[in-house]
Amino acid sequence: MQAGWQKWGWTFRDNSLVMKIPHSLTSTLARHIAKTIADSKGWIGFDTFMAQALYTPGLGYYAHDSTKFGAMPQAGSDFVTAPEMSRLFGQTLAAQVAQALHVTQTHEVWEFGAGSGALALQLLDTLAALGVPLQRYTIVDLSGSLRARQQLKLEKYAAVVRWVSELPDTMQGVVVGNEVLDAMPVKLLSRIKGEWFERGVTCDSPLADAEPEFYWQDRPTDLRPPVDVEGEHDYLTEIHQQGESFIRTLADKLTQGAAFFIDYGFPENEYFHPQRHMGTVMCHFLHKSDPDPLTNVGLKDITAHVNFTGIALAAQEAGLEVLGYCTQARFLFNCGLGPLMDASELAVRAMAQRLVMEHEMGELFKVVGLTKGAPWDAIGFAQGDRTHTL
Ligand SMILES: C[S@@+](CC[C@H](N)C(=O)[O-])C[C@H]1O[C@@H](n2cnc3c(N)ncnc32)[C@H](O)[C@@H]1O
Repeated sequence: MQAGWQKWGWTFRDNSLVMKIPHSLTSTLARHIAKTIADSKGWIGFDTFMAQALYTPGLGYYAHDSTKFGAMPQAGSDFVTAPEMSRLFGQTLAAQVAQALHVTQTHEVWEFGAGSGALALQLLDTLAALGVPLQRYTIVDLSGSLRARQQLKLEKYAAVVRWVSELPDTMQGVVVGNEVLDAMPVKLLSRIKGEWFERGVTCDSPLADAEPEFYWQDRPTDLRPPVDVEGEHDYLTEIHQQGESFIRTLADKLTQGAAFFIDYGFPENEYFHPQRHMGTVMCHFLHKSDPDPLTNVGLKDITAHVNFTGIALAAQEAGLEVLGYCTQARFLFNCGLGPLMDASELAVRAMAQRLVMEHEMGELFKVVGLTKGAPWDAIGFAQGDRTHTL
């Protein structure tokens, strides 16, 4: 940890306002997790560890006030998301949302995991400019500190925006979620010498005075990846029980409407490819990635790629239909990004290009569209639909 980050509060670094996270905060979080480990007979699954590292009230990465989202590390951010990169992202997605509201005869948008509120602002501005009548924009976010940031950003839409922490019994409307599925806790499975284990977390002396250090520990398990992984070589991967159960809950409650989730990930044949033997769990801090979630807990984001086949199957099993699945680049161009870029000044065009370039977000990021009732022709999947690969 950098020495300069040990005191709570805002500071200037390289002419930017940066939120410093106190060392005591990460230390308290580590002790909190260590106590959970002690209470669980010395071992917790990685999904429990990830949930606590990200969402422990007041302490987890998404529960404290660090900057998180932004284009540059100098401003204290850890990673950039599409709506933070370019407002054209939300403006383009708005075309799909407008069509979905019209086709499904609904009047409400639900956003899961709204981050800084950037996407909500882009969607609300564009839907208003398009003259789309919107009764409500509901935000569901596990993070209380982000809610405060969202409220500030969306002040001018205070009459339409509301926040809920629990889903109602039934929902109607168009659901959006950008990079929310990758933030949902995953279980780790490791195959060692041909046998499968669940990889969890332990710590040396959970109740000792010294700051706890976390270690991996594998335990025998009956859990398996959803498809056989070819070969006998050692292999590490994830399964997404929480993400898939989130989709099942949504499918259950959504009585009328559609949903669009955008995230990095693959269909299951690529996800569980024999060569992807180290899994996809990744951490982000000050725009650097590292594969070790057990250090600097609470300081960095922890993510896993999305298995889009698992998401589509969970949705179908729970009563939603798949509208389409394609790369982010295809989806955005299908929704009219080209003309929007042509009409923009050079700097805006340059940032928007990062949304669609193959080596940036264009190919790795995918969009899956779901609907209640009979499928319809969603503009976002008009060309380049890859549903057959799921
Ligand atoms: C990687 S951030 C993405 C933020 C934003 N969508 C963006 O694109 O900038 C993940 C967000 O998902 C939220 N989140 C994670 N799990 C959630 C859940 N089950 N329900 C609602 N929000 C969740 C986090 O609190 C955080 O705001």
